[in-house]
Amino acid sequence: MKENKETTKDEKEELPGTPSQRPRTQFLLFWGQLFLLILLPCFGDSACNRVDSESLLSLDFKVSPPLNWSASSDCCSWEGISCHHQDYDHDQHVIRLWLPRRGLTGVIHPSITSLTHLTHLNLSHNSLLGSLPDDLFSSLSSLQVIDLSFNRLINCLPPSSNKISQLQVLNLSSNFFNGTIPSSILVPSVSIFNISNNSFSGLIPTDNGSNHTFLTFLDLSHNKLTDTIPPGIGLCSKLQVFRAGFNSLSGPINDGILNLTNLQILEIFSNQFSGPIPSQIGSLSSLENLLLHINNLTGPLPLSLANSTKLSALNLRVNNLTGDLSSFNFSTLQRLTTLDLGNNNFAGELPKSLYSCKSLTAIRLANNQLTGQISPEIVALESLAFFSISTNNLTNAAGAFRILKGCKNLTTLVLSKNFLFEPVPDDESLGDPDGFQSLWVFALGGCQFTGQVPTWLGKLKNLQALDLSFNLITGSLPGCDKVDRSHLELPVFVKPKNASDQQYNRLSNLPPAIYLSNNSLNGSIPIEVGRLKFIHVLDLSHNKFSGSIPDQISNLTNLEKLDLSYNNLSGEIPASLKEGLHFLSSFSVAYNDLRGLVPSGGQFDTFTISSFEGNPGLCGPPTVHLTCPQPLSPAAGPRSNSHRKLLTGLIVAIGYCIGFGFGFGFGYKQNFIVI
Ligand SMILES: *[C@@H]1O[C@H](CO)[C@@H](O)[C@H](O)[C@H]1NC(C)=O
Ligand SMILES: *[C@@H]1O[C@H](CO)[C@@H](O)[C@H](O)[C@H]1NC(C)=O
Ligand SMILES: *[C@@H]1O[C@H](CO)[C@@H](O)[C@H](O)[C@H]1NC(C)=O
Ligand SMILES: *[C@@H]1O[C@H](CO)[C@@H](O)[C@H](O)[C@H]1NC(C)=O
Ligand SMILES: *[C@@H]1O[C@H](CO)[C@@H](O)[C@H](O)[C@H]1NC(C)=O
Ligand SMILES: *[C@@H]1O[C@H](CO)[C@@H](O)[C@H](O)[C@H]1NC(C)=O
Ligand SMILES: *[C@@H]1O[C@H](CO)[C@@H](O)[C@H](O)[C@H]1NC(C)=O
Ligand SMILES: *[C@@H]1O[C@H](CO)[C@@H](O)[C@H](O)[C@H]1NC(C)=O
Ligand SMILES: *[C@@H]1O[C@H](CO)[C@@H](O)[C@H](O)[C@H]1NC(C)=O
Ligand SMILES: *[C@@H]1O[C@H](CO)[C@@H](O)[C@H](O)[C@H]1NC(C)=O
Ligand SMILES: *[C@@H]1O[C@H](CO)[C@@H](O)[C@H](O)[C@H]1NC(C)=O
Ligand SMILES: *[C@@H]1O[C@H](CO)[C@@H](O)[C@H](O)[C@H]1NC(C)=O
Repeated sequence: MKENKETTKDEKEELPGTPSQRPRTQFLLFWGQLFLLILLPCFGDSACNRVDSESLLSLDFKVSPPLNWSASSDCCSWEGISCHHQDYDHDQHVIRLWLPRRGLTGVIHPSITSLTHLTHLNLSHNSLLGSLPDDLFSSLSSLQVIDLSFNRLINCLPPSSNKISQLQVLNLSSNFFNGTIPSSILVPSVSIFNISNNSFSGLIPTDNGSNHTFLTFLDLSHNKLTDTIPPGIGLCSKLQVFRAGFNSLSGPINDGILNLTNLQILEIFSNQFSGPIPSQIGSLSSLENLLLHINNLTGPLPLSLANSTKLSALNLRVNNLTGDLSSFNFSTLQRLTTLDLGNNNFAGELPKSLYSCKSLTAIRLANNQLTGQISPEIVALESLAFFSISTNNLTNAAGAFRILKGCKNLTTLVLSKNFLFEPVPDDESLGDPDGFQSLWVFALGGCQFTGQVPTWLGKLKNLQALDLSFNLITGSLPGCDKVDRSHLELPVFVKPKNASDQQYNRLSNLPPAIYLSNNSLNGSIPIEVGRLKFIHVLDLSHNKFSGSIPDQISNLTNLEKLDLSYNNLSGEIPASLKEGLHFLSSFSVAYNDLRGLVPSGGQFDTFTISSFEGNPGLCGPPTVHLTCPQPLSPAAGPRSNSHRKLLTGLIVAIGYCIGFGFGFGFGYKQNFIVI
């Protein structure tokens, strides 16, 4: 690039008026020049301003394949460059530098500040590094559009002293900028301001005196901003989108926001806002998305919200909202598609007015104190696919199941921790082809249901995850002779209790796992377990399984966690486990009746005594009996000759804490989920 630049520069300097012209050609030359002068503006290829051309070449972007920027050609014809002809001289100035997604690397060289006529700058989606040149904003005072989003730019923004007074669009999203947001950059002409996904700290900028008449889009989300929303927000009367989620904003939500009658999207989730939702929130008549989840809001759901009739998504989960939910009239919210009021302190009955919101596809009311029963009117919600009401105080499981069976589009139904101590519904017709057949996920954990494992569950052909854990269900795993086996190997998805804060927005993102813990399941672990090759977690702990550990578990080559603790298992730990389970990082057979030598080698060398304790017959490191009594019995313990098929059972009793949700974005704060 550099060589290229030198040679072409020389050529260029030789071009105008060579000294060897003869007098008789001067006449022609004059006419020739005149001709050129007339034609040039039409051809539009007069030389681009030399300063502009040189400062572009000095930018020296490292890029492959290279830009066709060569000093021998007019810079206005270079890739990514547009010029505007200035009447008062014959140069063309560069007004657009537009090279998004071009694989640019290196820094933004300070020579960019010589492009003083630049109005549009788009270098988004490249790999630019370093800080912005100090006088970027103060030199490029004609800039109208700046898009530097999706790069690796760092450090504080340079000061602008209001020089960029034409600025309309600023997008610095998804870089590593830090420091405070200089209020001088939020000039009154700005319409779109996006600094999301950086590390800006300090306050939301306010420019005292300026009223931001043009601001329509303000995205401050994913930064480290503190304090609260400044009252001046109420003067941004054209604002349509305001996002400030994932910051550390606190204090009450400013009433100034109620002035923003054009506001369509208000997203300020995952902050520490406290106090009530402004009681007149319903004056935001254009509101479509109201996302206030994961804050510390108190008080009731304001009745005025019924006036925001364009509302489509309402998410208030994980706050401390209270009041009788049935006193809110949902019936005006005919466009509501997702409603999430989970993890609050709402009381009262399930609001019947909700059943008239025909657009609803997802409802979550989990973790509140709602009482009463599911009413038959719910079947009017024909699009309802996701319904979670776990951890409330509902009663009448048999009635609820009979009604919900009529919600044909339900794919996820979470009823865990309700209906305490009721018998598990065992009406065989629940498994009929006209009921629950769309269900993928069915969670009934922690209901303290009594009775036998209901056989109708085995007829739900699309079921991929089922949580029956923490119930008082007895009996052995049912046989599957009557069931088509093809659907039994579908993956199941759960979120382990101790998983870190993760978001699972799609079923397919979840690690397949099986949790059967904490029931009274008995019988042996059938060899068919070896067919569940896709699973990452197998937890059979705290049951009454007996017999030996089947060799076939070593076929589960994706297994990361295997917990067989607290059962009545006997015999030896199959040595094959250490060959097959290369990813195993958590293993326990504690508190069984196992005996013989603990396998060594592979992952087994990483497990401590706690994985094996409570089995007096086990020997060898890391147990307390370092040597084993001779001779070792090769086939210790009774072999299971069970022909019982486990697979149906596995989907019948898959564990606690299933965690995901479609159509929601969550950041879980709890230890385990409650959907
Ligand atoms: C440079 O490439 C662009 C397309 O990217 C093309 O339009 C332009 O004519 C080229 N200019 C030169 C001088 O080759
Ligand atoms: C910059 O270019 C990218 C890629 O073409 C485009 O998506 C983005 O909208 C542009 N930015 C602006 C502000 O127009
Ligand atoms: C930058 O943000 C603005 C406003 O959100 C948007 O119009 C523009 O397309 C974004 N640029 C990219 C590259 O996404
Ligand atoms: C900004 O980040 C740079 C490194 O990226 C660091 O040296 C500097 O201290 C940070 N400044 C602030 C105000 O956090
Ligand atoms: C806001 O700015 C507009 C246009 O600059 C002006 O007409 C209006 O009076 C200003 N309003 C306030 C409250 O300052
Ligand atoms: C609401 O807007 C009007 C002008 O449109 C302004 O006078 C008033 O101060 C604003 N209220 C708040 C609370 O910002
Ligand atoms: C929530 O607000 C209450 C007072 O309203 C306060 O005591 C509590 O510490 C706050 N919780 C969090 C997590 O900020
Ligand atoms: C809805 O708006 C109307 C007129 O603006 C008002 O009279 C009514 O009180 C509002 N409803 C609620 C529930 O606030
Ligand atoms: C919720 O509010 C109640 C009082 O209304 C308070 O006792 C409780 O601590 C709050 N919970 C949280 C998590 O802030
Ligand atoms: C039910 O779900 C199917 C498949 O997702 C969809 O095509 C259909 O439109 C849904 N029905 C309603 C009433 O929403
Ligand atoms: C709901 O059930 C929980 C425990 O199951 C109980 O502590 C609470 O008092 C019940 N609340 C209501 C309103 O019935
Ligand atoms: C274990 O895997 C082997 C080889 O893939 C296969 O032949 C065998 O049938 C599997 N065992 C079980 C119980 O699925």
